[in-house]
Amino acid sequence: MQKQPIFLDVDTGVDDALAIILALRSPEFSLQGISTVSGNVSLAQATANTLTVLDILDAPCIPVSAGAAAPLFGPAITAGDVHGDDGLGGVTRAFPPTRRRAAEDAAGLLLEAIRRFPGELILIATAPLTNLALAIRRDPETMRQLRTLIVMGGAIRVPGNVGPVSEFNFAADPEAAAVVLGAGLPLTLVPLDVTERVTLTRRLVEESSRGGAIQTFIRQITTATMAFHREHEGADGMFLHDPLAVGVALDPSLVRQEPLAVTVETQGAFTAGMAVADLRRRCRTAPTANVCVEVEADRFLDLFVKRVLY
Ligand code: BDR
Ligand code: CA
Repeated sequence: MQKQPIFLDVDTGVDDALAIILALRSPEFSLQGISTVSGNVSLAQATANTLTVLDILDAPCIPVSAGAAAPLFGPAITAGDVHGDDGLGGVTRAFPPTRRRAAEDAAGLLLEAIRRFPGELILIATAPLTNLALAIRRDPETMRQLRTLIVMGGAIRVPGNVGPVSEFNFAADPEAAAVVLGAGLPLTLVPLDVTERVTLTRRLVEESSRGGAIQTFIRQITTATMAFHREHEGADGMFLHDPLAVGVALDPSLVRQEPLAVTVETQGAFTAGMAVADLRRRCRTAPTANVCVEVEADRFLDLFVKRVLY
């Protein structure tokens, strides 16, 4: 079987870590590289966390490149309250990475991967879109040769998670999100509308934690974020935002997609980072993304549990 080449762009917090594990435990994929970006935690911490996850998985040598340390404009925002001050529930001090990162040039690593697989590479972005915006600025033609760009981000018909209307990845770099959504790429958007439908419960994690080192690591990194989700979202576990983006790459039939004209607000005092979708019945604007609007949550959860927790 010909493997599907993929590339990940991450800001490794807890759900990014689970997304990386799902991608590496999916035999359908060959992971060509990972770029990291400032988001849930600083760039340096996101990069170290990514390398640690690869260590824990005993993954083959996969190039990991550190990208943007700050958004295109303005100061970085982080999400230590959700993911723990180190992004992985405070457990990384026990797991310093043993492998090294690759080249400095994250956009270059991504563009090279697309050139190796023109029209074939799936790029899955689960972080603020700064690295992607920089790659688009450098070489928009090559970026248009992606097979699909799957972005976890935005909130279309549901409230935001960092503000009343804004989702973290878009709010952390609204200008970059606007560049990516306006670039005419073959884009699939995986917004909170579907990711907040998929909850990994403590019970599922506990049931599997008699397993080996990976299961123990997963139990440790998920404990604090599950407590946060319980307190702030009333959820019995944690949302699998980023893993669902990998799930959509594995099996698009897990979701129903709707072509929509979506852009991102960059100016509003209360709305910067808001995904603005034209939902008018007679929308006159051309679609910019296929937006996931429904998900078969149980089917995805089943796939996730089998591949990641056992
Ligand atoms: C997104 O924000 C981050 O905190 C998560 O890793 C996910 O990518 C959800 O809004
Ligand atoms: Ca993320």
